[in-house]
Amino acid sequence: MKKKIKALILAGGKGTRLKPLTTTIPKQLLPVANKPILSYVLDQVVDAGITDVGMIIAPETGHLIKEFAGDGSKWGARITYIMQDEPRGLAHAVSTAGDYLGQSSFLMFLGDNLIHGGVKKFVEQFSNDNCDSLILLKSVRDPTLFGVAEVNKDGSLLHLVEKPKKPKSDLAIVGVYLFNKHVHAAIKNIKPSWRGELEITDAIQNMIDNHRKVGSYILTGWWLDTGKKDDMLEANRVVLDDLLKREVHGKVDAESNIAGRVEIRRGAEVINSKIRGPVSIAEGCCIQNSFVGPFTSIGEGTVIEDSAIEHSVILGGCHIKNVDRLTDSIIGRGCKVVNVAGNFRHKKLFLGDDAVVEL
Ligand code: TTP
Repeated sequence: MKKKIKALILAGGKGTRLKPLTTTIPKQLLPVANKPILSYVLDQVVDAGITDVGMIIAPETGHLIKEFAGDGSKWGARITYIMQDEPRGLAHAVSTAGDYLGQSSFLMFLGDNLIHGGVKKFVEQFSNDNCDSLILLKSVRDPTLFGVAEVNKDGSLLHLVEKPKKPKSDLAIVGVYLFNKHVHAAIKNIKPSWRGELEITDAIQNMIDNHRKVGSYILTGWWLDTGKKDDMLEANRVVLDDLLKREVHGKVDAESNIAGRVEIRRGAEVINSKIRGPVSIAEGCCIQNSFVGPFTSIGEGTVIEDSAIEHSVILGGCHIKNVDRLTDSIIGRGCKVVNVAGNFRHKKLFLGDDAVVEL
């Protein structure tokens, strides 16, 4: 008989490395190719046949996650929200969800991770095998930056090391895991790490040490962890490059040129501009006398005039005028970036906390 499994999505945490964006938007709701990361995660969980979803949330941002995901019916899921009072580690999040998870096996998915091709096969392998845990791994160029797994020839895990100086393999631990009920005993056995967190890698190592069967599954497609600014730009680039289709629903005038895979959503308007894909332009944007270059996403209702932008993520409600040329940038909601003609010696800034400006 197939095991019925639940999902545990981790949408708490502080997102400090993505401030100031995460001051008002939880990291899991930041858009990649104009779609919140959490939406991709929910799509993939449901696609793997899991509809019972526990969602870990934080006191500061939980209401925004709830407002976005609701009861989960939009995805065909049933969401139960679980408040984690403080982000005391991934294993702490699992123990916080103890009552919800009960004796069930579960798929744990970090709410800020994106993976190519979903988790259906990964979940199938776990359902068919009789292992206690299955860990998703990905071959990476620089394993010293990740949690790294040493694996036997049969795929079973031998040893895990956090950011090893001399890595014994190039297999990094991706933020998606499968566990059965035995993980709870392992979490009870571990102590907080030097950074004060209950680490899931320590819990998995404890399972291995106690002769639990921990298998591995190698991910061949991309894996994007959206922890920092450049990771967000990279995620936007990869997802636009890989998943975007040409779809023009907005209005484009005769003087404009739309080249390549460009998505222009309903209610958006392009006037006398050149758009070179892959680019996503959300509902209600207005792009006028401008160039929008590859790997750019423009959020709902943003206005761009007399500017050139590429390889950037502009969130909704912004106004960008006379800026030539904006690149490698992430701009939060409702920002105004205007180059005041003739005032080239002066820079006038009105920035919120933690803003970063490179002039
Ligand atoms: P991290 O990126 O490790 O932590 P963070 O989101 O707090 O970010 P930063 O380090 O920049 O402050 O978290 C990975 C995912 O797991 C993310 O979606 C947040 C979530 N998480 C929890 O839900 N509870 C926790 O205790 C931790 C540590 C993370």
